[in-house]
Amino acid sequence: MAEFKKAATKDQLAPGECTTVEVDGTAVALFNVGGQFYAIDNTCVHRGGPLGEGELEDNVVTCPWHGWRYDVTTGVSLVNAAAKVAKYQVKVEGNDVLVALE
Ligand code: FES
Repeated sequence: MAEFKKAATKDQLAPGECTTVEVDGTAVALFNVGGQFYAIDNTCVHRGGPLGEGELEDNVVTCPWHGWRYDVTTGVSLVNAAAKVAKYQVKVEGNDVLVALE
């Protein structure tokens, strides 16, 4: 069973914002899409850019390094459908945003 760990608090991330958090030593990109939280691996599969520092528009993040775009709800690249980063489960408990790495 997935083990959820606290990654952030809800008020750290307003709708339309993203950030990078560390969960058990793994860099995770966390997104707030209209009040719904999503988490994917922070490392862009192109050259390792930090996706949590990208530009979020609706459910799509643009990598800050060379512009690859990913659907944050699936982790799948919109540039290259074969390219994909891990997507993590997220749940909200009270003011805490929890992420399960698997
Ligand atoms: S590292 Fe992300 S687009 Fe190049």
